Amino acid sequence: MAVIILLTTAILLIYIYFRISYTYWKKLGVPQLNPSFPFGDMAAVIFRRQNMGDKIKEIYDKMKGHKYVGLYFFSRKALLPLDPALIKNILSKDFQHFYDRGIYYDEENDPLSAHLFSIAGPKWKHLRSRLTPAYSPGKLKYMFGTIVECGHQMTDILKELVREDATIEIKEILARYTTDVIGSCAFGLECNCMRNPKAEFRLMGKRAFTQTIGDVLKMIVIRSFPSLAKLLGLGVFSSNVTSFFNQVVRETIEYREKNNVTRKDFLQLLIQLRRDGQIDDEPRNDDKKGPCDKRLTTEEAAAQAFIFFLAGFETTSTTISFALFEMALSDEIQDKARGEVNGVFKKFGGLNYESAMELHYLETIIYETMRKYPPAPVFLRKCTKPYQIPDTDILIEEGLSVLIPCYGLHRDPDYFPDPERFDPDRFNEENRSKIWDYTYMPFGDGPRNCIGMRFAMLQAKIALSLTLKNFKFRLSTKTKLPLKMETKGIILSAIGGLWINFEPIIDAQS
Ligand code: HEM
Repeated sequence: MAVIILLTTAILLIYIYFRISYTYWKKLGVPQLNPSFPFGDMAAVIFRRQNMGDKIKEIYDKMKGHKYVGLYFFSRKALLPLDPALIKNILSKDFQHFYDRGIYYDEENDPLSAHLFSIAGPKWKHLRSRLTPAYSPGKLKYMFGTIVECGHQMTDILKELVREDATIEIKEILARYTTDVIGSCAFGLECNCMRNPKAEFRLMGKRAFTQTIGDVLKMIVIRSFPSLAKLLGLGVFSSNVTSFFNQVVRETIEYREKNNVTRKDFLQLLIQLRRDGQIDDEPRNDDKKGPCDKRLTTEEAAAQAFIFFLAGFETTSTTISFALFEMALSDEIQDKARGEVNGVFKKFGGLNYESAMELHYLETIIYETMRKYPPAPVFLRKCTKPYQIPDTDILIEEGLSVLIPCYGLHRDPDYFPDPERFDPDRFNEENRSKIWDYTYMPFGDGPRNCIGMRFAMLQAKIALSLTLKNFKFRLSTKTKLPLKMETKGIILSAIGGLWINFEPIIDAQS
């Protein structure tokens, strides 16, 4: 009996606490929805009826006209700015107040979680400036040949598969391509996922992006009680994913150092940062001396290679897949893109760094693809210093999360008329400058934007140009239209996959 009374009292107290929490935004004068106990505004996401991107877009559409909206995740509060001017302040102008993402990491027990994406404070600034040269155009040029090799392997396999059956689910093929690219560029390994879909690298990539019920529960503990999560040693990823990547990096570094092997890849640059504290041709800059001015440890190097993989493979393969899907629906766009590829390859003697830089129409296709299907439909900031919303009395307190509604903005007819229409010309030279600031942000914005965007664009251009050169393609009736997005997972992905019929171009010389 005493236990029942105790339990009922505890539930009642929790209920009251949540109900009081749900008045927070209203009291501040910030519009809010109708949060319900105990999930706040996120019941559909928790129960996987809706993915986070769709949910935030739904709220964006519903609350349009307001400059900001207050949200609740369980009892935690988050701000959703809808006004591009306020978003600009948060991401760029007043970045000092929104330095971090507020993503959990545990440097001590789970060093792989302490990568550039999650790391906070001055340590992030230091790491970002250390790593920026590794993503420069010069370093991309250095890796170009490795990416093209993976592109050729992809079109070779496509040709073999098409001989058996012209209808192919492209998302999986492209995930194998981007895994091969990142495997060779970030880990210095030939993973060969193209030929072997069960390669460990591919399986680990799939595992990292699959959320089991156990993962969801673990994330709830991590988000709600980070100190308890640290105490329990809960890792962000499953332990086999973590130990696989740690081991791969450790062994590859040891092998290269022992055998004096160097390769043109990102890992080599990390090895330099580990050994010398800077990349070879990078000028010594005293500004880079910070609270953690030291060489990278092996664990830190492994974490940076890991985020290259994690942030790079699924986002890029999703973009390439949706670009092929849209071109498969429009002969006009596809023919124009193929015409450009053939012309540019002829002018520059095939696919090389110079020709890739000249594929301007293809670039507009990639930009428009990321507008319609931003791989990261929402991204995060954490308030690191109290912030008064300009021209209001509203004070955003330290520690509060801010969600940037990228998907909502990209499909807003006020910024992109007829938003469901796929129109690469929105991004041609003439129209691009007309796009409102902070309404188009597939790679985020401000000092904490995507460091890998040039790499992603190059990888996408290589895959798309080689596919256009070698195949004509049409959408298969196996693709379920209208597209519906998976309700699980972080990255946008179509339910049932994207199926395309390929017809090889006989005289294509890639
Ligand atoms: C189409 C492909 C990609 C898309 C759409 C994408 C998108 C994004 C977005 C939205 C963010 C958050 C930006 C912000 O908060 O302002 C981000 C951050 C990041 N991305 Fe990407 N990304 C892509 C490819 C890549 C690739 C290929 C790499 C690595 C080579 C990469 C590495 C990172 C890293 C390390 C961060 C964290 C940067 C920091 O906090 O300093 N991304 N990306």
